[in-house]
Amino acid sequence: MRRLFAILATISLLFGLSACSGTATPNSLDLSQASQQDSSSVLESSATEPSAPPISSTVQERVPDEESAGSGVLVAYFSATGNTEKIALHLQDILDADLCEIVPEDPYTSEDLDYSQDGCRANQEQNDPAARPAIAGSVEKMEDYSVVFLGYPIWWGQAPKILCTFLENYDFDGVTIVPFCTSGSSDIGSSAATLQDLAPNANWLSGQRFSGSASRETVAAWVEGLNLPESPTGAEDSQTQLQLHFAGGEAIIALEDNATTRDFLAMLPATLTFEDYAGSEKISFLDQGLSTENAPESYDPQAGDVALYTPWGNLAIFYGDAGSSSDLVFMGRVVSGLELLAGMDGTFEGTVTVLA
Ligand SMILES: Cc1cc2nc3c(=O)[nH]c(=O)nc-3n(C[C@H](O)[C@H](O)[C@H](O)COP(=O)(O)O)c2cc1C
Repeated sequence: MRRLFAILATISLLFGLSACSGTATPNSLDLSQASQQDSSSVLESSATEPSAPPISSTVQERVPDEESAGSGVLVAYFSATGNTEKIALHLQDILDADLCEIVPEDPYTSEDLDYSQDGCRANQEQNDPAARPAIAGSVEKMEDYSVVFLGYPIWWGQAPKILCTFLENYDFDGVTIVPFCTSGSSDIGSSAATLQDLAPNANWLSGQRFSGSASRETVAAWVEGLNLPESPTGAEDSQTQLQLHFAGGEAIIALEDNATTRDFLAMLPATLTFEDYAGSEKISFLDQGLSTENAPESYDPQAGDVALYTPWGNLAIFYGDAGSSSDLVFMGRVVSGLELLAGMDGTFEGTVTVLA
């Protein structure tokens, strides 16, 4: 099997939840006063099935060590069963960022999270537009951060209401917020748009859904394609941008620097013929092979990724979900125009040029 595609959710998970609104529950505790527990005690739940999680996380952590303090990047996340926490830890490592777990004052029990029970606490909160679960602790100097990565699990297609509490507790005007989530199978969908209403003057970047088992490399590939304002990773500084022009518009691609992309750059400008593959990629067969020197052994593509599929020698631009493959080499990320590209029908031509 060439690639494993994500299994579509077999049941409709949406109950038509209302957008977050209402009054924030104020925090009274300083983060330093909150209890702490080793993160290794967090039990994991299945990353692929929205099964009832076993326990709630009680970890509360912020790690402003000497090197990362003042980096201006905060990874804030809520994780009831540890999946989102794994992605948050990858991000902290990649970005050398500060870390803040959003911990409920009243921790979620397994019964609270058993969404097969209509009346469980999680379901009640998700169905209550005014629900604002209180947070234990607070971020001491939110004004130090110009970029906040905001992570959460998908609950009934949306972010848990404690994210609303978090957003309403601080002033995010002018801050770049980058949402990310984990789920059993649902995409990030409208969850990020719902949160945007609570910090409308923040600069919201497109969000990303991960499986709880996504690798550091997968997360790093996503980060490298982001258009972050102050280039916290330094990755953007060395990134070449490509323009892909086609009948329906144009897409901009931030290119990774590796042996594969250096060969590809040598081919440009070029007019390529694209076709759809499996309802999740636009692919184009290249006239010449590209180097795969030093390519990682395996890679899990995300929507927006550009990759080389080595057995067929085709360029693949992912707009849907696909599984990890050892035959794919990451080349870059579409930073704009992905929806236009995804909307193209049938076979079409695209001209790729290097932006100055
Ligand atoms: C109340 C509740 C609702 C959920 N709803 C969805 C859903 O709509 N779609 C989905 O794919 N997964 C759903 N899940 C599964 C979680 O999104 C998934 O297990 C997630 O990775 C958990 O992250 P965490 O371990 O960081 O809490 C739900 C889980 C719970 C507890």
